Amino acid sequence: MCGIYASYSKNAAKKVLLGLKRIEYRGYDSWGIASLKSGNISVRKQIGKLSNLKDIVFEQVDLSLGHTRWATHGGVTKINAHPHLAKNKSFALVQNGVVENYQDLKEKLISAGYEFVSETDTEIIVGLLEQEMEKKAEKTLNPEIFAKVFQNLSGRNTIAVITNDGRLMAIRHGSPLLVGKNSRRDYCFSSDILSMSDDMEEYIIVDSGEMVSFNCATKEFVVTNIETKMVIVKKFAPIDHRAEVSEKNEFGSYMLKEIHEQATVLPRVVSGLEKNFLLATKMLKDADQIFTLACGSASFATGNTAYLLRKAGYKASAIEAYEADSYLNLFNKYSVCIVYSQSGETADTNEIVELMKKKGAKIISVVNMPGSTLTQMSDLSFMLRVGPELAVASTKAFFGQVLWGTTIYDILTGLKFNDIEIKINEFEHKLKEWFSNNEIQKKIENLAKDLTKHEHLFVLGRGDLYYASLESALKLKEISYIHAEGFSGGELKHGVIALITKNTPVLCLVAEDKNKANMLNAISEVRARGGRTIVIAKQDNDLYSDWIQLPDTRDYIFLSSIIPSQLMTCYMAMVKGYDVDKPRNLAKSVTVK
Ligand code: F6R
Repeated sequence: MCGIYASYSKNAAKKVLLGLKRIEYRGYDSWGIASLKSGNISVRKQIGKLSNLKDIVFEQVDLSLGHTRWATHGGVTKINAHPHLAKNKSFALVQNGVVENYQDLKEKLISAGYEFVSETDTEIIVGLLEQEMEKKAEKTLNPEIFAKVFQNLSGRNTIAVITNDGRLMAIRHGSPLLVGKNSRRDYCFSSDILSMSDDMEEYIIVDSGEMVSFNCATKEFVVTNIETKMVIVKKFAPIDHRAEVSEKNEFGSYMLKEIHEQATVLPRVVSGLEKNFLLATKMLKDADQIFTLACGSASFATGNTAYLLRKAGYKASAIEAYEADSYLNLFNKYSVCIVYSQSGETADTNEIVELMKKKGAKIISVVNMPGSTLTQMSDLSFMLRVGPELAVASTKAFFGQVLWGTTIYDILTGLKFNDIEIKINEFEHKLKEWFSNNEIQKKIENLAKDLTKHEHLFVLGRGDLYYASLESALKLKEISYIHAEGFSGGELKHGVIALITKNTPVLCLVAEDKNKANMLNAISEVRARGGRTIVIAKQDNDLYSDWIQLPDTRDYIFLSSIIPSQLMTCYMAMVKGYDVDKPRNLAKSVTVK
């Protein structure tokens, strides 16, 4: 949550604006840019999305610091937007994270006479820095004071400042930070590698507990450990990941485009990775106990993977990262944990991974963002390679995660890698055919129009499709703001059926497997109460009020069933006029707890 981008270069403010646009997925409540000119810092802030911005011109400056906000403390207002300027205007500061001991620190500052202007926890950091500068009779903020004050903050925080004497400094704890540079000795500090301006040539990943400091006057760049105060020599590596230029094309939104891309990115998830997949399966075979870990959509993908592992005869438990407490005593050096994260920066997930590692557990991660924290912490890491996912709600990354888990299952149950690749190619072909079937696509669009009238929707799935029902319901909530609940078809009669009345829409995911008979029972129970059953299945049935035909594939029932529901959700949101790429209150990378 929240994105940080700073630049030391010719036309720095313009570069920061571009960088912020690239990391806007991290928060789009408001944004702000602070720039230094002739010893004066000026700050420009605005609420709303950067992408909606037209014709904004910045002065030519060499040093700028920007931020895109996802509000945690204090509403979405211009005052609460970052950067926050010190009262004596000697520095401007941005933060990505949460100061967990903010109440305590705020009370102390107030009793010491500090007057707050915003409702943010960020301003506490500003106040503490000013207090320390006063104590030390310093007119400008130096790295010693910056590092000292940071150590009083609890929580996962990354903060950055520009000072009126031309310093750019940042400290990382938890939330990601990278530094880029080029041969002209221009620098940028950024929350992710893909956002770095195209003229950056090399980068380093700043580790937790490190401070990076650049002095414009001397051009000196230093990395220090904030506890030991020792200088750390870090080797810059060439930037080999560039943001793929991604246009919405005829789709009109990234989300719709990314749903369609699912038919083409499949082979990338496995191609050339036989050795790593075999390594992963060996680790799983050698483990005493397997865990899967993730949050949100990714946790439905891991849930499905754990389900498949159990089907293959392995002891596997799915953990939602924010509910990991009761599992903590089970982790040891014989445990292996599979972790899915599109961003690799999810605070809830990474915190449990840190704990697992301390107990000796091995981590296999599947991530879509190069250079992420989770990748660095893993014993074996896979890059999903489905391309940047720009819509905030996950579709193609989720799809890739489910495919990764299915591939592991296929290997563990004896399929040869080569045969898996053939199977994936066949699936890709069938999916493309399905997408180009206008009749089916039109039907989904029409159903979507119809369903927008409803405030509640239920989704039923079972067995192989249980987690697909949970994911479908989450997408409906996130994008079309409809109250949706996903649950097992078996659960219906144990309570939820009380909510089924005339015309209540129930989306049902039906596989041609041993669960079909029970799903049909659930569907007839819904129909008997007047409910409307919209069924995603291979074959039609009299019990279905509406039928959405699935691609005619042998395998990958989860993956083929999720696509019609993603499409329906996307169309519903479009009919309602919502921004499907940036749904309200959400951010793509959830780096706060
Ligand atoms: C939903 C969605 C989220 C993420 C979750 C984990 O569409 O995108 O639920 O799946 O926040 O994020 P990552 O995968 O980055 O760890």
